[in-house]
Amino acid sequence: MRFGGKVAVVTGAAQGIGEAIAKRLWQDGADYVALIDQNAGKMREAALRLDSAEKKAGGYVCDVASMADVQKVFDGIIQAHGKIDILVNNAGITRDAMFHKMTDEQWDTVINVNLKSMYTCCKAVVDGMRARKYGKIVNIASVSAFGNLGQTNYGASKGGVIGFTKCLAKELARSNCTVNCIAPGYINTDMLQAVPEQVMQKFLASIPMERLGEPEELAAAAAFLCSDDSSFITGECLVVSGGSYM
Ligand code: NAI
Repeated sequence: MRFGGKVAVVTGAAQGIGEAIAKRLWQDGADYVALIDQNAGKMREAALRLDSAEKKAGGYVCDVASMADVQKVFDGIIQAHGKIDILVNNAGITRDAMFHKMTDEQWDTVINVNLKSMYTCCKAVVDGMRARKYGKIVNIASVSAFGNLGQTNYGASKGGVIGFTKCLAKELARSNCTVNCIAPGYINTDMLQAVPEQVMQKFLASIPMERLGEPEELAAAAAFLCSDDSSFITGECLVVSGGSYM
């Protein structure tokens, strides 16, 4: 029971990578896994897929870009389950456009959901983690932070996630809390549905392992960084991309 005694929160957990991470933490014995998402319908279905008679998982509707929403939901989880030991900041969106065509709305929405959410969700857990001298925070960035066409907003948000991770890691290290991030390459989820077929072929040609990653492969990396197996690793960015960034 790798996560026995631990309470975990995973954002953007209604589907894709977030759901796979929540499932992995649950399978590996977490006392409780809170699935957070703004899509109420899908989130309830995902929580039901994990929910057992022991009530070791539950779903919460929350917009991670809203400080008021996050405070209310995280306070509720802490009241009901006593603490939050593990936070996986996974919720993220794309609104791709070449920069000369990008709208203010596309820029602001992506920065708010992907980057401001790091601030809102970490704010809600950091005091408790410092007080208990234990915490594991894993933030999901992207290889797009290193450059990708049509993603100035997304790449900026994910580059911000990497910088945020390293700065918070320095601040929390003396409190025995680790903060790391994962930069996934191309992973087989709904997020890739918007990518045109010929662009997808180019993506595949750029991956030495010649295939997309699966959400479960991301979940395995996240579980390592959420566990005590990574107790002396902090401020790192683990690239999980089938070798694309060798
Ligand atoms: P997805 O689109 O399948 O799932 C994202 C989830 O986040 C959805 O359930 C959505 O409802 C939720 N969400 C979106 N905005 C939210 C908000 N404001 N508040 C709460 N929940 C919200 O995406 P996927 O592929 O599972 O991506 C997960 C993370 O991995 C994201 O941060 C994404 O940027 C990152 N990523 C994904 C890659 C891929 O190839 N799929 C590659 C690199 C990074």
